[in-house]
Amino acid sequence: MLGGGSTPLNTAPPGPPPVGNNPLALVRYLRAFRRDPIAFVGDRFERYGDLYATTFRGTPLYVTRHPEHIYDVLVTRGNDYSKPEKGFGARQLRRFLGNGLVTSNSDFWRRQRRMINPAFGRKRIEALAAPMTAHARALRDRWRAGEVRDVGADMMGLTLSIVAKTLFVHDPDGERDRIAGALDTFRNFSGAASVLPEWVPIPSVQRVRRGLADVNEIVYGLIDARRAEAPEALAQRGDLLSALILATSEPDASGAAQAMTRDELRDEILTLFLAGHETTSQALTWTWYLLSQHPEVEARVHGELDAVLGGRAPTSADALPYIDRVLSESMRLYPPVTTVPRVAARDVELGGYTVAAGSDVVLWIYHAHHDARWWPEPERFDPDRFLPERIAQAQRGAYTPFGAGQRQCIGKHFALMEARLLLATLAQRFSLRLVPGHPVEKLVAVTMSPRHGMRMTLHAR
Ligand code: HEM
Repeated sequence: MLGGGSTPLNTAPPGPPPVGNNPLALVRYLRAFRRDPIAFVGDRFERYGDLYATTFRGTPLYVTRHPEHIYDVLVTRGNDYSKPEKGFGARQLRRFLGNGLVTSNSDFWRRQRRMINPAFGRKRIEALAAPMTAHARALRDRWRAGEVRDVGADMMGLTLSIVAKTLFVHDPDGERDRIAGALDTFRNFSGAASVLPEWVPIPSVQRVRRGLADVNEIVYGLIDARRAEAPEALAQRGDLLSALILATSEPDASGAAQAMTRDELRDEILTLFLAGHETTSQALTWTWYLLSQHPEVEARVHGELDAVLGGRAPTSADALPYIDRVLSESMRLYPPVTTVPRVAARDVELGGYTVAAGSDVVLWIYHAHHDARWWPEPERFDPDRFLPERIAQAQRGAYTPFGAGQRQCIGKHFALMEARLLLATLAQRFSLRLVPGHPVEKLVAVTMSPRHGMRMTLHAR
């Protein structure tokens, strides 16, 4: 039975009292939630069940951790839900990313996804393996045995350079700090800013404004330079930015096909910049942490690397199944995206209840990944859960680090190949150990990162 599935339609599932607009109550609520969102919501699931309902500032809110609900919202009834456009989180995301692939809805999203999909085809992605590996080697050459580094920062720099280079053929060396700084400001933007009106000039709002201006200058500069090139030259380049400039929509009723405007290009580029590096960086950072805590798993990783590669550089053609299982299991325990939000586009059934049009629905991927009903001993790091014969038995909807259905991550294959190549290249030469006493705590924001970074010592292999 799914979270109250026998209850007649129209009866709301149980849940905590509404949160209204009283500023003090709101601040108190947000403070409690933000201190540890995973535990906060976990307590509520324990108290009310797999699906609970409440009202947040006047809007009904449904929260679920049940895999069948996740599958239902993302896949079976994917057309009945859209991405949120209101609410603090959605507004901030839109302020930064505009109406790009992650945030857009309905026909506009469909048109953009069709135009961008070809750039993420298997062949195109495989062609990016060599530059990905080259970037990882460059970092490896800078690493020194015995050195202590924030591996989280290293992974972020590495994946940012890779996305800039592989998707836009742009070397961000001089600008990487500006881009990274602006993205950081955005990541850390919350607190008072979420309660006060947006015109109040508190420092964090001003920082975001400056960061946005910085990023816009870089991205519009990139677009303008590229659009000045002749179409034949762009076609020759073959990178994603050129492809996006050349792409046109399917002809409309009058037979006219549209290219993307300068602003649409800006939104898609920034979206791919952000979505395309931060998530993969978190996945790798948590994987280094897990390997440092599980020497027996690390030994198998090294064994596979030595047997398959014997010291040479990895390519897209190399099968590294154990490393793939390690990455899958790492993203189960530490999914870079912990929740997926939706809004009911019309009245829709969920778990036996009617969710009214306009209600918010939050899918807790993290909790589905940590549920003993679908994952025995859920806190245990066991990559062999992902052996093909075992994962084939898994509960549908219980593992969705990349989402599912029509809005599934467009960069899934890009990310999986990148993570495998970077891990392989770095682990060929180095074994990483957490600095004793370094606190490891999850920070749930746009993605889930280690709150205090990941300070690790590099050991030569
Ligand atoms: C480990 C790495 C990654 C993880 C865990 C991840 C996770 C996700 C998830 C959960 C979604 C679905 C969100 C939703 O349904 O609301 C998503 C969507 C998306 N991701 Fe990723 N992602 C990763 C890497 C990437 C990369 C490398 C790119 C681009 C190069 C990318 C670009 C996108 C885009 C554009 C969307 C929106 C797709 C759409 O709605 O049409 N992601 N990602």
